[in-house]
Amino acid sequence: INKINSKKDLVGKKVVISAGSTIEPIDPVRYISNYSSGKMGYALAEAAFERGASVTLVSGPTNLLATPGVKINRIKTTKELERKMNEEFKTADIAIMAAAVSDYHVAKVANNKIKKTGEKLTLELVQNPDILKGLGSVKEKQILVGFAAETNNLYENAQNKLLSKHADMIVGNDVSRKDIGFGNDDNEVTLFTLKNSPIKLPKTNKKELSHKILDVIVEKLMSKE
Ligand code: CTP
Ligand code: CA
Repeated sequence: INKINSKKDLVGKKVVISAGSTIEPIDPVRYISNYSSGKMGYALAEAAFERGASVTLVSGPTNLLATPGVKINRIKTTKELERKMNEEFKTADIAIMAAAVSDYHVAKVANNKIKKTGEKLTLELVQNPDILKGLGSVKEKQILVGFAAETNNLYENAQNKLLSKHADMIVGNDVSRKDIGFGNDDNEVTLFTLKNSPIKLPKTNKKELSHKILDVIVEKLMSKE
């Protein structure tokens, strides 16, 4: 029995969630990425599906399996994630950017494996487009949610991201702590919105936390309609 949540308040709604990392190739055998496991995004997808939503997960490389019933699109690079999110966003009611997007890509990806030379090697990196900000700039009725992964100044940085990206909510995540966030089954987050003062959600497993995040998102969705 699922005691955590039996609400069906997302029936008839489309929820699009990005999860995991994006990777940026260096050459055919190497890439740049980050420590995101995808667990938070997958938990959000499962929770939204339980509440009756039609759920599309756009996922970077992970070891995770999507909950049966959740539509899964696998991507690797930030460019691929951007294309898919832009497409899915048009028909979404709620979009959640839980992915840890690589901020830079390699300027010139080598066609062949780079050989070591005994000399130092410099990679030139070019900043990636900000997908969340792009969605924020074309947003119509959708509820748009982003994450903020911070090691310091969480409140200030999350508030700035809320404004600069035109999101309806930022889920602030302290990634300096070893017991929550990246790779963990538990997380503890603070929700930043324009109207309310920050809502601190206590540490719990990512699934239960997802339902608490969705409670606030659903409230926003209802008040917009
Ligand atoms: N994000 C995005 N596209 C990027 C980078 C980030 O859509 N190129 C999204 C993330 O999915 C997340 C939010 O923006 O929902 C914040 O990501 P974060 O890495 O915390 O912030 P950045 O804007 O990338 O700024 P910085 O890493 O410099 O703090
Ligand atoms: Ca970033």
